[in-house]
Amino acid sequence: MNRAGHRPRRLSALAPAVALAALAAALALPPRPAAPASPPAPRGTGGAVVSGDAYATEAGLETLAAGGNAVDAAVATALALAVTFPEAGNLGGGGFALVRLPAEGGGWELASLDFREAAPAAATRTMYLDDAGEPVPDASLIGPLAAGVPGSPAGFHALHARHGRLPWPRVVEPARRLAASGFVVGPHLHRVLSGARDRLARFPETAAVWLPEEGAPPPVGTRIALPALAATLAAYAGSGPEAIVAGPPAAAVEAASRRHGGVLTAADLAAYEPAWREPVVVGAYGWRIAGMGLPSSGGIVIGQTLGMLERRGWAELPRGGAGRAHLLAEAWRRAYADRYLLGDPATTGATAAELLDPAWLDARAASIDPARATTSRTVGDRASERAAAGAAEGTETTHLSAADAAGGIVALTTTLNDLFGCALWVDEIGFLNDEMDDFATAPGRPNLYGLIQGEANEVGPGKRMLSSMSPTIAWNDGPGERSGEVVALGGRGGSRIPTNAVQVLLHLIVDGEPLQAALDRPRLHHQWFPDRLDAEPGALAPETAAVLERLGHEVRVAGDAAKIHAVRRLPGGTFEAAADPRGPGAAAVLEPAPSACCGLGGAEPEREPRVQSHPGARP
Ligand code: DON
Repeated sequence: MNRAGHRPRRLSALAPAVALAALAAALALPPRPAAPASPPAPRGTGGAVVSGDAYATEAGLETLAAGGNAVDAAVATALALAVTFPEAGNLGGGGFALVRLPAEGGGWELASLDFREAAPAAATRTMYLDDAGEPVPDASLIGPLAAGVPGSPAGFHALHARHGRLPWPRVVEPARRLAASGFVVGPHLHRVLSGARDRLARFPETAAVWLPEEGAPPPVGTRIALPALAATLAAYAGSGPEAIVAGPPAAAVEAASRRHGGVLTAADLAAYEPAWREPVVVGAYGWRIAGMGLPSSGGIVIGQTLGMLERRGWAELPRGGAGRAHLLAEAWRRAYADRYLLGDPATTGATAAELLDPAWLDARAASIDPARATTSRTVGDRASERAAAGAAEGTETTHLSAADAAGGIVALTTTLNDLFGCALWVDEIGFLNDEMDDFATAPGRPNLYGLIQGEANEVGPGKRMLSSMSPTIAWNDGPGERSGEVVALGGRGGSRIPTNAVQVLLHLIVDGEPLQAALDRPRLHHQWFPDRLDAEPGALAPETAAVLERLGHEVRVAGDAAKIHAVRRLPGGTFEAAADPRGPGAAAVLEPAPSACCGLGGAEPEREPRVQSHPGARP
């Protein structure tokens, strides 16, 4: 999206010079107070893993130590999450993976896999509306009618089949073992189960496992084994996704869905196929940034943001000042307006190429007034703006990252949408998602994340719902001292994921912050509607917030940031892993590098994992 040598547009055409001078002084106000510091990210030379849960990170690390590559480690981590992190880890949901691996014959291979859920064959545009056309409360959020066809079983397998190195059963084994022998309920799991009690209690199947103590979750310290899930994982290890999508687990899903008013069938599961998609790659600040394309909006929103910021000289403005915050808000306002056009790549109203077209980004960046917030009401999407100008053309999730000693790196985000998905637990597969709420289920009405979405994202059989998940890999291939540095990041937080991921990226690539500090720093968010700039406590000094209010922004202090996890490979070959201190998360590195490969039953090389957990220090 960036043309090499692009110069930031001059601001003088947009505001009088006098006003600019006064504003420049106000915009250079001191940065916000320092964030509470986490310990620095651990470092090692054998690889790195970060995920939402310590058991899962340990599974990834074990896989690296057994000679697995980053893909093996990522898949092993994701499968372990499906056992020990039931709020978001899953076999009953979906997600996206981005990989960058050493290519045969030199160079790098970049690929992205879409294993996003799809609408069941029986889905209709009006399935969440009553006879009067009004949304039926919770219909797209609770119970199996809210569930899309799970993409994870076929997705994890396809990712491994194309890019993994260890035998498949070896990659599934840590998850199977955790399900069979059990894992201990920690404070985080206990807390989220307690918080979701009312939703979970609606389904006896769910309550039997997760609310066994007279309607209360298992106490902290309880060991939970999930034998039916262990049997599913054993069968999956033996014969791949068929064991799930064409076997007893699919029949169990169909039966549970029918019992509770859903339309999901075993045939839906059997028909699902993951899709390899072209990653969205942009250049900014001397880095290449690869993101997920449709049906995720993540790569496009991040690419548009970086394109607008670079054009308007964001990096030259003072850190922590109102000028940077204003430009971020204005760029996001425009990027989320364009998001309105997006949906399944088969029905989308715009493509990544159109929205990242340099001429479009020039126009978008030029429309930012440095002295005034634009009201969201006056910002249309690309199609409506073009039409107005007379032109011819007519929002619970978990992220993990893994890196191996050969330079391979993976960013993988997977989700059930809401915490514990639609709240219906099926013993053989785990929680079913409520991803259907990511469609525009009631046109013009905000979804779970307040996102207003367009016709391209209406419900239709087989369609994939638009996502905000943003697995991202950025690398520096310039000539400087950071040449060869690679970062893989992503996160949870619905519509906040792209804005939060891009801020972490900017802290790293523009401001050169240490990895953990870049995650710790309080963040901002704007998503077009509501027309409001959300700031985490500490993100804006009071006088900076006052300047932004004078510019016309409604500033709301709110602690609901996304949670971003990241791994990084430094130019010398050292790895770092860092979890978001907002928790939960566990980051670990491997030391020393594993020796060549070993298969199932191979002796594990000596290793010294350093796991750093964040149990959720901040709410
Ligand atoms: O795909 C999406 O954009 C959402 N279903 C992601 C949900 C999410 O991040 C929930 N986590 N807090």
